[in-house]
Amino acid sequence: MSPPSDSKIVCECLQVTEAQLVKAIKTRDLRDLNGVAAHTLAGDGCTSCHPLLGAYLRKLRGEAATCRLPRPAAAQRDSSQALPL
Ligand code: FES
Repeated sequence: MSPPSDSKIVCECLQVTEAQLVKAIKTRDLRDLNGVAAHTLAGDGCTSCHPLLGAYLRKLRGEAATCRLPRPAAAQRDSSQALPL
């Protein structure tokens, strides 16, 4: 396994590198996206990196990771507010 990269960006919005993310997950024992955002800011913007951040959490934390991802806006919409076809 190659060492985490200082040049690979894992969160474009906050410009967080793979090395910063991996270090934070390991040294701070992070287990969820809220912890990652609190300690690195990664994932605190558009949220499009959440699946990637979740993959790192699962890879480094295994079963201990709780990678609850935000539900897509469409899934949160009440069915009574369904768009007319
Ligand atoms: S790419 Fe990470 S919050 Fe936008």
